[in-house]
Amino acid sequence: MSKSRNLFFLSSLSLVFIFALAYNFADRNITKLPSEPRTVNAEYDFDLRIIAAANAANAPRQTGGPLGLGRKALDEEITAWDLDIAPDGTGLPVGSGSVSYGEEIFSEQCGACHGDFAEGVDRWPELAGGEGTLADDDPLKTVGSYWPYLSTAWDYIHRSMPFGYAQSLSDDDVYAMLAYILYSNDIIDDEDFVLSNENFLDVEMPNAEGFIIDDRDMTEYPVFSQDPCMEDCKVNVEVTMRARVLDVTPEDDGS
Ligand code: HEC
Repeated sequence: MSKSRNLFFLSSLSLVFIFALAYNFADRNITKLPSEPRTVNAEYDFDLRIIAAANAANAPRQTGGPLGLGRKALDEEITAWDLDIAPDGTGLPVGSGSVSYGEEIFSEQCGACHGDFAEGVDRWPELAGGEGTLADDDPLKTVGSYWPYLSTAWDYIHRSMPFGYAQSLSDDDVYAMLAYILYSNDIIDDEDFVLSNENFLDVEMPNAEGFIIDDRDMTEYPVFSQDPCMEDCKVNVEVTMRARVLDVTPEDDGS
């Protein structure tokens, strides 16, 4: 009897020890999330979605169409989900944010993962640096070194950051954070700079010219979509070279 009690006591003790050890490990090694999401100024987006959902629930069903299912999306629903910002600035909301305010809220909301200077913590992504590394074996692709359009960064941050609290940022906060990211990348030197919807397109992204526009629908498609020639395609057929002479087969196997 006393033996099994001893055994019970010992195993509880070791369980407590293991839990304490695990807690200690987790506490030290898992990145802390910001304690409060910044929902203060972002009510507008949330309101839109609530209105849209309510309208959707009350909207009359339409029984037309081939299957008699569903209904057309309401304008409010489209507005609530239409978040994308185009490279020419289409979709950008009116707003602004300074480098200095951006620095403050960046270290609060983003620094735990991306570092206070956007240099990245541990394996979380770097958002600054990497200039001139794109042709290296191990290029560092950041907003500064790689992203061609500032609009993509605005859209991405507004839509999906901070990780775990997506869409909790106000429009002005996104402008401010982006101003700070530009400053961290030395794309903006002036620490009094204020980024807004008005000067947004004036910012020059270093890799803006680094992408090739996909023009295959103009250059390749017309060539490959012609009717193929099936007879009398060439007047004379002449063999100009032989593969053996050209020496196309590698000689050393495995090298
Ligand atoms: C909990 C950690 C965490 C926090 C906090 C966080 N991020 Fe991120 N961020 C990530 C991860 C992870 C990715 C990569 C996501 C992916 O590739 O799918 C990322 C990606 C990004 C990228 C794109 C990087 C690239 O080059 O692909 C930007 C820009 C960004 N975050 C900005 C922000 C901003 C601004 C904040 C603060 C509002 C923030 N993040 C807060 C984890 C975090």
